[in-house]
Amino acid sequence: MFSILKPLPTDPILGLMAAYRQDTNPNKIDLGVGVFKDESGHTPVLKSVKKAEAFRLENETSKSYIGLAGDLGFCNKMEIQLLGEHKALLANRVRTAQTPGGTGALRVAAEFIVRCNPNATVWVTTPTWANHISLFEAAGLTVKEYPYYDYENKGLLFDEMITALKQVPKGDVVLLHACCHNPSGMDLNIEQWKIVAELAVEVGFTPLVDIAYQGFGTGLDDDAAGLRLLAEYVDELIICSSCSKNFGLYRERIGACSIVSSDAKVADVANSVLLSVVRSIYSMPPAHGAAIVDTILGSTELTALWHQELAEMRDRINGLRTLIVDSLNAQGIDQDFSFIKHQFGMFSFLGINKEQIDRLQKEYGIYMVGSSRVNVAGVSHANIDYFSKAVASVLK
Ligand code: LMR
Repeated sequence: MFSILKPLPTDPILGLMAAYRQDTNPNKIDLGVGVFKDESGHTPVLKSVKKAEAFRLENETSKSYIGLAGDLGFCNKMEIQLLGEHKALLANRVRTAQTPGGTGALRVAAEFIVRCNPNATVWVTTPTWANHISLFEAAGLTVKEYPYYDYENKGLLFDEMITALKQVPKGDVVLLHACCHNPSGMDLNIEQWKIVAELAVEVGFTPLVDIAYQGFGTGLDDDAAGLRLLAEYVDELIICSSCSKNFGLYRERIGACSIVSSDAKVADVANSVLLSVVRSIYSMPPAHGAAIVDTILGSTELTALWHQELAEMRDRINGLRTLIVDSLNAQGIDQDFSFIKHQFGMFSFLGINKEQIDRLQKEYGIYMVGSSRVNVAGVSHANIDYFSKAVASVLK
């Protein structure tokens, strides 16, 4: 049976991780997979996480199953972190399932959409995180794209986006990145979110908001402002969130899928479907990551520490954006890279071609995704000179 299988190419992002690890170049730089790195290139365990883990080790009393929705304390705290004191929460219209990472949340959402409308198309930004397309298609949904990033002017194709969204059939789903757009770093401003929210009501599409980087852009509340505004307008909304980046819990695989319904009764029905989806995929989520987040968000002291650590990560990323632009400018390069300063989160497109990307990898051990997406957190004060000289040399 297996002999009919054909080999598949490695994942464009995860394949890079493996290639980087094998590279023996002592100067190599990993700008591929989206993980935060400190000045020494290390992805640290946050102090708030360590403290929460110590508490858990001391206080955990059972390894029995935690249930389909996972840790309910975690789910409630995530809802508040995502929506604030939102009317949807006050009206008991939100139901959340803890999921294995943000990707797990998206897959659960995809299966949930199939149960609502198997013929729905999911509309994603051009470009989007490559795995968005694979995972919706794997659930049997059709995926179509709408214009988003302006490669030429390094901004948004907002008018084109709105024109395209006006044509989306009622009952389809439109995926929006809440903040720190992956892969472009280009976000909607709040006026643009308002236009999209009004359009969702007018056209009748269901928004699915992917929020994987809350706190990495401008702050926990600011990064959720568009999502919260959208939730003021629409009756129904799907939110897929992740604690991989903002809590640094990547390998613990902790995220959430939240369904906002028109009223509490519909929310209960939606919840029963959500939980049935969970049961048919992985039965129940693992406990550890949720317990850490629940412990941190349940403690004033640990929350304050986490906020401080999150701000440090955000400040580092934003500082590196400026450093990259200044350092490339100092090489006397003709191209204007100033757009990198005006984008958010870990990613930006450098805007260089395939041949230049390949040369950076082969000649300099500098790894980035084939689209020229760079994880700015991979740069440091120690390697910035090497990086900008290498970029300057392949641009000549
Ligand atoms: C990324 O875009 O690099 C991250 O979201 C990690 C992943 O799984 O692709």
